[in-house]
Amino acid sequence: MKSYYITTPIYYCNDKPHLGHAYTNVACDIIARYHKLKNEDVYFLTGTDEHGQKVEQAAKLRKISPKKLTDELSKNFLELTKFLNCSNDDFIRTTEIRHKESVHILWNKLIENDEIYLDKYKGWYSIRDEAFFDEKELIKKDSVFYAPSGAKVEWIEEESYFFKLSKWKDKLLEFYSNNPDFVAPITRFNEVKSFVKGGLNDLSVSRTTFKWGIGVPNNDNHIIYVWLDALQNYLSALKFPDTNSLLYKKYWPGVHIVGKDILRFHSVYWPAFLMAANLPPPKRVFAHGWFTNEGNKISKSLGNIIDPIKIINEYGLDEFRYFLFSQVPFGDDGDFSLKALKNRINNDLSNDYGNLVQRVCSFIYNNCEGKIIYDDSYNEEDNNLFNSSINLFESYKKSMDKEEIDKGIKHIFKLISLANIYVDKQAPWKLKKINTQRMNTVLFTLIEIIKRIAIMTYPIMPNKSKKLLLYLNQNIDEISFSNFHSINQNNIIINKPEPLFPKYEDKID
Ligand code: MSP
Repeated sequence: MKSYYITTPIYYCNDKPHLGHAYTNVACDIIARYHKLKNEDVYFLTGTDEHGQKVEQAAKLRKISPKKLTDELSKNFLELTKFLNCSNDDFIRTTEIRHKESVHILWNKLIENDEIYLDKYKGWYSIRDEAFFDEKELIKKDSVFYAPSGAKVEWIEEESYFFKLSKWKDKLLEFYSNNPDFVAPITRFNEVKSFVKGGLNDLSVSRTTFKWGIGVPNNDNHIIYVWLDALQNYLSALKFPDTNSLLYKKYWPGVHIVGKDILRFHSVYWPAFLMAANLPPPKRVFAHGWFTNEGNKISKSLGNIIDPIKIINEYGLDEFRYFLFSQVPFGDDGDFSLKALKNRINNDLSNDYGNLVQRVCSFIYNNCEGKIIYDDSYNEEDNNLFNSSINLFESYKKSMDKEEIDKGIKHIFKLISLANIYVDKQAPWKLKKINTQRMNTVLFTLIEIIKRIAIMTYPIMPNKSKKLLLYLNQNIDEISFSNFHSINQNNIIINKPEPLFPKYEDKID
């Protein structure tokens, strides 16, 4: 059985979860569920990033200890994964002992391999990004310097341990050229390569001016840089340092899904740390884009943070999941707007998908006592629809294998559209009066195609797919691509269908 390890970034515990967190969670869940349908052995990890100056500052503002803050906020992230129906196998917190031990072992390994040395850091730091910047990367406005993210930077001078990143330039470039699929989308991979080609500075990997973090072994004055700490979560969850553990052996290296803002950490620093510790780098890093809210950058100061729970309570979970990944090509930036969400629900889900299901299932329920007799006397038009479903399924898999979720969705909706055209043309309601045997074959064909659609939509809208498969009396404990081609050779009983996707007519503004 092929194994597949997928991770979300771990989320900073300095505030409540927002749309960006929900986006990465759902993306990973879709991809994890997709690989499970392929009968792969999937491990899906998410969690919280609890150390660092940013979290310490948030705790100070609330006049509580960082531990208390992270205990409270981490719960919100855990609840969000449940609320989003994520199928994650583990939820890691960087304040857990298993993680601290794993970070210490990584650190010691880097020391042992002579990859870390003690010196002094003088330069710019952005607390919001938890990142060091070269002056040439900064934007100067009214004599104040800002990071490319717009966050203020501060000048720091302190003793620091450094990781010898500069010496990994050629090794990284060689790794990239041997692994042309390491970073996706390709435009982002090109940015990463040109950043590395431009030369790398050694990276400061410890801080002394605050306390909230994992201590450097044998030097109480220093805490480990929050990114070196955080990235290691991907291995801690696989029981590192026990590289003989089943989890590590089965699942490492894995696939990281991250936002574009944190690609450099995952595609440059992380593989360099791992190679320097004689460990295999990750298999792939996919960087997604950012959402704006009704055309505006999402930010606390603008007060336009989107609460995913509120949206889901109003519009439905699977509708929300579908919207995020049909609206914007995965990898690109996009906009979140309620109008676009309602349009997607009304047009794609209600008019196209829901209507196909409703007209076929209700017809069978109301006119055939819910029963269709097994019949395989298919004509050319039936076979054409079956063949299209197989071709579209292949295209869907090609897209989903590359995490191109939006393209995968387009292939499903092409099949929905072909099935709707087929219903119109075959008109079972007319056949009922003139040729019931043909009507039966048409309905049998349609139910088979709807089953295939339900299987393909399962990773994106698992609850709706299950509901639909239950109308068709299918076993929902064994949803798998192995059932895609198998045509049911028994009579089909349809349960009473209710509309899968209620419309939002009254709410359109
Ligand atoms: N803690 C680090 C990650 C460490 S991984 C070893 C971090 N955390 S975060 O909470 O700030 O961000 C988590 C994810 O949310 C990032 O992938 C980021 O790109 C994503 N998003 C934050 N705002 C976003 C949007 N407006 N739109 C889409 N995703 C965005 O970074």
